[in-house]
Amino acid sequence: MRSHEAGALHGQAGDRGPAWLRRPDDPDELVPHLWADNVSKVDGVLTVAGESAPDLAQRYGTPLYVVDEDDFRRRARSFREAFGPDVDVYYAGKAFLCVATARWVEQEGLNLDVCTGGELAVALRAGFPTARIGLHGNNKSVAELRRALEVGVGRIIVDSVEEIDRLAALTAELGVDAPVMVRVTAGVEAHTHEYISTSHEDQKFGFSIGDGSALEAVRRIASVPGLRLLGLHSHIGSQIFVTDGFEVAARRVLQLHGQIAAELGVTMPELDLGGGFGIAYTTQDDPSAPGDLARNLTKIVDEECRAQQLDRPRLSIEPGRAIAGPSTFTLYEVGTTKSVGLDGGASRRYVSVDGGMSDNIRPALYSADYSCTLASRGSDAPAVLSRVVGKHCESGDIVVKDEYLPGDVRAGDLLAVPGTGAYCRSLANNYNHVPRAAVVAVRDGESRVIVRREDEDDLLRLDVG
Ligand code: LLP
Repeated sequence: MRSHEAGALHGQAGDRGPAWLRRPDDPDELVPHLWADNVSKVDGVLTVAGESAPDLAQRYGTPLYVVDEDDFRRRARSFREAFGPDVDVYYAGKAFLCVATARWVEQEGLNLDVCTGGELAVALRAGFPTARIGLHGNNKSVAELRRALEVGVGRIIVDSVEEIDRLAALTAELGVDAPVMVRVTAGVEAHTHEYISTSHEDQKFGFSIGDGSALEAVRRIASVPGLRLLGLHSHIGSQIFVTDGFEVAARRVLQLHGQIAAELGVTMPELDLGGGFGIAYTTQDDPSAPGDLARNLTKIVDEECRAQQLDRPRLSIEPGRAIAGPSTFTLYEVGTTKSVGLDGGASRRYVSVDGGMSDNIRPALYSADYSCTLASRGSDAPAVLSRVVGKHCESGDIVVKDEYLPGDVRAGDLLAVPGTGAYCRSLANNYNHVPRAAVVAVRDGESRVIVRREDEDDLLRLDVG
């Protein structure tokens, strides 16, 4: 390949796109497992639970996050049902938390994991039962801990020595007990992007099992009268497809669990294995169903408990992405297009939409791949390799790096990107003073705003001049 004058990265890919991307026979057709349950195309027009994409765009504007509420609820329920009554499922609110989603998970019988005072405030606004809330965070402030104790959260997952000391002082001051778990790192390199891998040694979360600091933390907690130790907590990372990482982590964590019982005489009633279950963003992803995850994880825990002659602690898990992610697509309007020549006579079509890294920063942050479809009309035009980009002042402002779209996609068309329910609105930002997009929930042919769009007044509200 001739080297590109702007550097090697610019010269790759050609018109074939990455190896995993197949040219579709019909670019109008949806790949069903990438979309929420109630999404389909009717005469080329995308519809969700009886509402059409053009109607939604007209009523609420674009970019727009569109949640299939029944899909979200069904995924929440299916984790609870698959894992059964002996396992507590905490929805990881960081994936996408607002008052409506907090209520949905509460109604579907799940618990809630929050990791900041802000997320806790949303849960409280939603009236979420505080005993079913777990508080995470590697640097919880005294104010956050105080609030959690005052409202009576069901568990605080302790992440540092300083936090143990803060909780010791607060429980003494307030005259309450704190139910705590200890976040441990099992030394597992999860197969995922480095930035979302959390259980190897060289990162910020938790107490290492390997260097003895986890055992030391438990010893310290056991010496504080106000702290009630529930168990150990392990979260190995996010967007994970293979269970080997969970298996290794569960084994190491249960070994520590047994060691604590034997050496310190402390029996812990619970064990949390975190979240991280991957979803399909493109045809290259093949996620496991909750039923398979439940079977695998409980088998691993049962085997290890048997081997160590331990009573099985009550298990809990914390899925976020796998519940929220697939329920939602983002609807954009196309503004401009252009084709660029690539090496070897190939070309790529750039399609600019009215959002970008402010509503989905995952491609820029983790090189995440997405797919998309033309949502407002059918087209017979041959598919061309396209790159969907945003309106921000960065060339890394990419929404969908590689996708085959009909060659006649033009200004005014709507594009829909599936799998944007997790870590998109929750990571949304105001770069370039772009207002954050609205979230609309659709159910049984009815749509409603659950998070309204920001406007110019919102953008200027904090700017005191
Ligand atoms: N539990 C703990 C302690 C976590 O830190 C996380 C995610 C979860 C559960 C939920 O993981 P999930 O099931 O959603 O994979 N912004 C990144 C993901 C960061 C995940 C942070 N922690 C992304 O967009 O890929």
